[in-house]
Amino acid sequence: MKQIEPDKILEIRNSIDIVDVISNYVSLTPRGKNFFGVCPFHNDSNPSMSVAKDKQIYKCFSCGAAGNVFDFIQNYENISFIETLKKCADMANIPLDIKISNNDAIYDKHKNLYDIYENSTKFYHNILKSVEGRQAREYLESRQINDDVINTFRIGLSLKNRGMLTKFLTNNNYNKKDMLDSGLILDNEKGTYDIYANRIMFPLEDLHGRIVGFSGRIYNEDDNSKYINTRETEIFKKGETLYNYERASLSARNDGYVIVMEGFMDVIRAYTIGIKNVIATMGTSVTEKQANVIKRMAKEVYLCFDGDNAGMKATNACIRELERLGVSPKVIRLEDDMDPDEYIKKMGEEKFREHIKNAMSSLDFKLLYLKKNYNLNDSNDVALYTEECIKLLNQFDNEYKRELALSKLTSDTGFDLEFLRSKLKPIVTDTIEDKIDKIRPIEPQYKQVGLNRYEKAQINLIYYMLHSKEAIAIYNKRVSHMPNKKYRMLAREISGFYYKYKKINIADFMIYTEKDKEMNDTLHFIMNQNLRDEVDINELIDYTNVIREYNIDAKINYLHQVMKEKNDIESKTKIFDQIYELVRERCEIKYR
Ligand code: UTP
Ligand code: MN
Repeated sequence: MKQIEPDKILEIRNSIDIVDVISNYVSLTPRGKNFFGVCPFHNDSNPSMSVAKDKQIYKCFSCGAAGNVFDFIQNYENISFIETLKKCADMANIPLDIKISNNDAIYDKHKNLYDIYENSTKFYHNILKSVEGRQAREYLESRQINDDVINTFRIGLSLKNRGMLTKFLTNNNYNKKDMLDSGLILDNEKGTYDIYANRIMFPLEDLHGRIVGFSGRIYNEDDNSKYINTRETEIFKKGETLYNYERASLSARNDGYVIVMEGFMDVIRAYTIGIKNVIATMGTSVTEKQANVIKRMAKEVYLCFDGDNAGMKATNACIRELERLGVSPKVIRLEDDMDPDEYIKKMGEEKFREHIKNAMSSLDFKLLYLKKNYNLNDSNDVALYTEECIKLLNQFDNEYKRELALSKLTSDTGFDLEFLRSKLKPIVTDTIEDKIDKIRPIEPQYKQVGLNRYEKAQINLIYYMLHSKEAIAIYNKRVSHMPNKKYRMLAREISGFYYKYKKINIADFMIYTEKDKEMNDTLHFIMNQNLRDEVDINELIDYTNVIREYNIDAKINYLHQVMKEKNDIESKTKIFDQIYELVRERCEIKYR
């Protein structure tokens, strides 16, 4: 990988604003000179992450996550530093001459497999376009899937003859083991042959957009399985894959929301009407891994599963998985058991877009779902249903919506409105600011328990060195040697950074510690001290005095040790004089 100049990295960092960038991922509310939002790095329900515009860093008061804009993107999107840089350079319109290559460890390890899938995709795609693909093309046409879509999603066709792909791969010198490992070829007593026959082939990609398997659909004959997916391999795990993820991720980020559907036909249909921020779970219920990926795609998540009962059940399960991660999705409900594909074809683009606009809250959906699961002619069920509804209504933060739901509940259950109302807790009317106040005292918290005064002095001095050049000057003049090695290294690095760039700011300095894990950890620890922002020179001098005192004590101890080992009185006296000098120096240290 080509090395990127540190100055280039600084230029990129300085060309983008952390508040703008983080707003693309998390809703931020201004408060004082900082911004606050719900922390995406732990299961946060209150806004405990602050983003400082002046310092260009973020910090979570609850879980301690902190860093500059690069750290945020890298951790949020779970990508490499280079990928992060490239992303940021693109945002800032700074040309960056690097190619994000596929050469990560996993790719290297399974290169042959990736290669087989890629070439098989081309192979199947060409067959679909050939004379032999006429019937399949007609089928796709009947489903209003045009050439453009066929090319974008690289749709292909496997023929009835089960020897085609085997022959193609053999001719291309793939070894038999890799061919069998791919799950595309089968070997038994009858010979070696293709697993897929006479199916329309949809390539499935991993989160990096690399093909890792297929789903083959029947199109002109009956078969028990409508779709057959390639079996799972080390690089293809159905529960970690989301159809169309790579293509959708940029649109999702830009649009501010992502739409999750069940099937890839739904995604493809949405794509044909220009809705590109869509992905599919591919039929299975959403796993925690998938939910994590979805959460990171955009600020808002819309679920648009099939309109039938199975779709409702899947929606409910998906809401639960997402809510565990602190995401409250919106729900698009389609009428008459239709799936998005059918709906868009039948009702048209306008109607579907209207549906997106009118998506319901997850709470509203849960109420609807609840009703479906109880038999309201049974008094036991009515009681249970009412209890569950009240639990949900207690989560509503809007009085009008609550009253509306309440009156519906009255007519559903026959319970008196006043009775139901009496079961509700009063609405908490906290604003976001109130909530922040509650969880975070405005006064800085000194959570420096368990640290001795020497450590505290070093930590606090470094904290201020990260904020002000005065602190760096005081350090250079009065200390220059921190007792603890990790603080010593860090202080030297800060001082060196300042010497080189004639300025200090944490967001840039962090880039320098990135490669050194221990130093980076120390830096984060110090950043999280939540000290006051303003520097008090006298306080700084006190810290340096504590440190000097420590250094002198260390020297005295050492000299005592040496003195013990000497036998002649002359050497002893000499050392004693040195000790005396140090003791005097120590006494002269004055505190405010
Ligand atoms: P659906 O049965 O809803 O498929 O399954 P669909 O999207 O409507 O497909 P068409 O319109 O009939 O072509 C949703 C998803 O479940 C998975 C597929 O990923 C499909 O997209 N599935 C379905 C299977 O894996 N195997 C099956 O046999 C059926
Ligand atoms: Mn369908």
